[in-house]
Amino acid sequence: MRFDPWSPEFVAHPYDAYAELRQRPVTFFEPTGQWLVARHADVNALLRDRRLGRSYLHVATHTEFGRPEDPAFLDPFWRVIRAGMLDVEPPVHTRLRRLVSRAFTPRMVEALRPKVAAIATGLVEDFVARGGGDLVAEVAEPLPVTVIAEMLGVPEADRHLLRPWSADICGMYELNPSIETQRTAVRAAEEFSGYLSELARARRADPGDDLISALALVADGGDTLTEEELVGTCVLLLNAGHEATVNVTGIGWWSLFRNPAELERLRADHGLLPTAIEELMRWDTPLQMFERWVLEDISVGGVDIPRGAEVALLFGSANRDPEVFDEPDRLDLGRRENPHISFGAGIHFCLGAPLARIELAESFGALLRLAPRLELAAEPTWRPGYVIRGLTALEARV
Ligand code: HEM
Repeated sequence: MRFDPWSPEFVAHPYDAYAELRQRPVTFFEPTGQWLVARHADVNALLRDRRLGRSYLHVATHTEFGRPEDPAFLDPFWRVIRAGMLDVEPPVHTRLRRLVSRAFTPRMVEALRPKVAAIATGLVEDFVARGGGDLVAEVAEPLPVTVIAEMLGVPEADRHLLRPWSADICGMYELNPSIETQRTAVRAAEEFSGYLSELARARRADPGDDLISALALVADGGDTLTEEELVGTCVLLLNAGHEATVNVTGIGWWSLFRNPAELERLRADHGLLPTAIEELMRWDTPLQMFERWVLEDISVGGVDIPRGAEVALLFGSANRDPEVFDEPDRLDLGRRENPHISFGAGIHFCLGAPLARIELAESFGALLRLAPRLELAAEPTWRPGYVIRGLTALEARV
């Protein structure tokens, strides 16, 4: 099996192709014009290397960088996306991240644990009362969506809008998105930002005890978020705040069902949960690839890559690199040394990692406690798409 992000067979099992790619430091992939980087050491180093960026627009125009202009119809999409910290580089990134971190401190996040636990327990109790069902739709999705929506202060009646908007926007993160996907993403970005602008305006005028109000009012030496930055930040938090967590839960439980001895080990010792969650995120990585632009000439393993090129960092491959992990293809829930890269590294390291870890610990914990004999009821299928890895559903019986 070769690297083929559009093939369902490859998406279902990319790991042999990754092993092959790790034989070389980089491989040029013609269909996307990207350099694939498959080894852990290189992915880790490039994420921290300031000669690369998620964007190049802070140092050059499209033309100066040898790239085509964005089609005008994408303007509303890019306006929202480039107003959030993920798609900008310093100095703007530093400023946005500092302002948002103020309203998102580890202490504030840890204080949410009892609430997250209560939501997780409620969802799992309902799931158990029904004798099981689709774990993705009934537990994996509603937990992080509810948590991030409550944090931001999105009214309950509007929360059903978040998943579809987010899914439509995330379509743009797949490789070579179709025109249809791009148009859908533009529409979602317009609707989502329109909705959040109104909400933010209302909160600025009449602040509540929520993150949108806190972000609207946050000030750092006189600096505050502009209206556009506030909306871009909320879109980012709402999307990033649930998409991967949903997928880790679905993929994680399926990984446990496929490794029954490890599942029994966890059932016998819930104390393994912290290392188990890290290992599940390593063994089958929810976000398989992140891209970076090369802002200054670099060399990777002796191969020169010029300014203007794009690299694709293969997280799923890095997490199975035998140079870093003993027996990388084995799921070992007690793995001690586990420098997986699933939350990224460097300046864009996941801002929500502490919250994601709390959500995963509480939902896996509640399922272990309340559904001690949970079992697979039907073979799941992978969602289409390579970059964002997830299951369409996971039918399970309690
Ligand atoms: C298991 C769940 C999650 C995974 C695997 C994950 C993974 C990641 C990764 C890999 C990045 C860096 C992307 C890059 O370097 O190009 C990132 C960034 C980010 N994540 Fe997460 N994430 C998760 C959950 C969350 C949650 C729950 C939130 C928020 C509540 C969140 C908010 C963010 C934000 C704001 C960024 C941008 C940080 C920056 O650009 O400085 N994530 N995430």
